[in-house]
Amino acid sequence: MSMDDMNLEVLQRRLSGLPVSEIRYYERTGSTNDDALEWINKGAPDRSLVTADEQTAGRGRMQRHWVTRKGTSLAFSLIFRPEASELVPFYAPLGALGIALALETLTSANPQIKWPNDVLMGGKKVSGILAEAAWEGDRLTGLVLGIGINIATSAVRLEDDFLFPADSLQHSLGRAVDRVDLLVEVLRQIFQWQNRLGSTEFITEWNNRLAFRGEQVRINRPGMEAVSGEVLRIGQDGLLWIRQDNGKDISVTAGDVSLRQTDPKLRE
Ligand code: BTN
Repeated sequence: MSMDDMNLEVLQRRLSGLPVSEIRYYERTGSTNDDALEWINKGAPDRSLVTADEQTAGRGRMQRHWVTRKGTSLAFSLIFRPEASELVPFYAPLGALGIALALETLTSANPQIKWPNDVLMGGKKVSGILAEAAWEGDRLTGLVLGIGINIATSAVRLEDDFLFPADSLQHSLGRAVDRVDLLVEVLRQIFQWQNRLGSTEFITEWNNRLAFRGEQVRINRPGMEAVSGEVLRIGQDGLLWIRQDNGKDISVTAGDVSLRQTDPKLRE
C-alpha cells in the first residue's frame, strides 16, 4: 500500500472528474469537521472537501473521540449547501451507502450498515460518520458530512477503547486498499446518490445492507429508555423498525444499536 500517496496535488488530479468545488488538505489538523464548519461560515462553496492525513482531535457521534493516525486512514469532511432542511437526516446514511457501494465496486466485500450509519465488515466497524448541520437562527447554512475509514491495520490498535468492535479494511480484506482510489469512488457514489436522497430506491439500497436484520438487538437511546427486540427494516422516513418482545413494533429515531447478548441459559 502506498501510504505517502496523499497530498493536495494528488487529490486535485484524482478528483478532477468529480463535481468537487474546492479542496483543502492538511497533513495534520484537529478535526476536519471543525475545519469544514468554520469554512462554511467563511463562504465555502457547495461540494467542497476538507481532508487530512492525521487528526489530533477527531470527533465521533455522541461526544466520542475518533482516532486518525498519520498514514493509516481516510478522514474527510464534505460540505453541502442544501436548499432545504427536509433531507438533512439522510446525509449521514448517504455517506454510509456511498462507502458500502464503493467497497462493493472496488473489492469483493459485502459491507453492512449498522443503522443509522456505521459501516461494518465481518461484523466489525470499519467506518464512522458524523453529519453536522450549520444554522443561522432557523436557517440552514450548510451541512458537513464527516467520514472516517480505517484503511491500514495500524489504524486500529488494541489500546483504543471502542464501544463496538473495530477493524480495518486491510485486515478484513486480507490485502491493502489504496485510500485515494477509495476516496474517489466513495465521492462518486455519494454525488450520484445525492440526487436520489430519501427516494424509495435509496431506502431499498440502505435496507439491503442493513446489519442485524432478523436478529435481536438492544438500542440505547440518549435520554430515553432502551429498546430491545428484532430488527425489522428501515422505514421510508429513515427510522428503524423493531419488533419488541411483546410483539409490538416500534420505530426508533436515534440511538446506538448493539447486539443483545443471548442469555447463555437459553442456549441449547
Ligand atoms: C462515529 O462513528 O462516531 C463517527 C466518526 C466520524 C469521524 C470522522 S473522521 C473525519 C471527520 N472529522 C471528525 O472530527 N469526525 C469525522
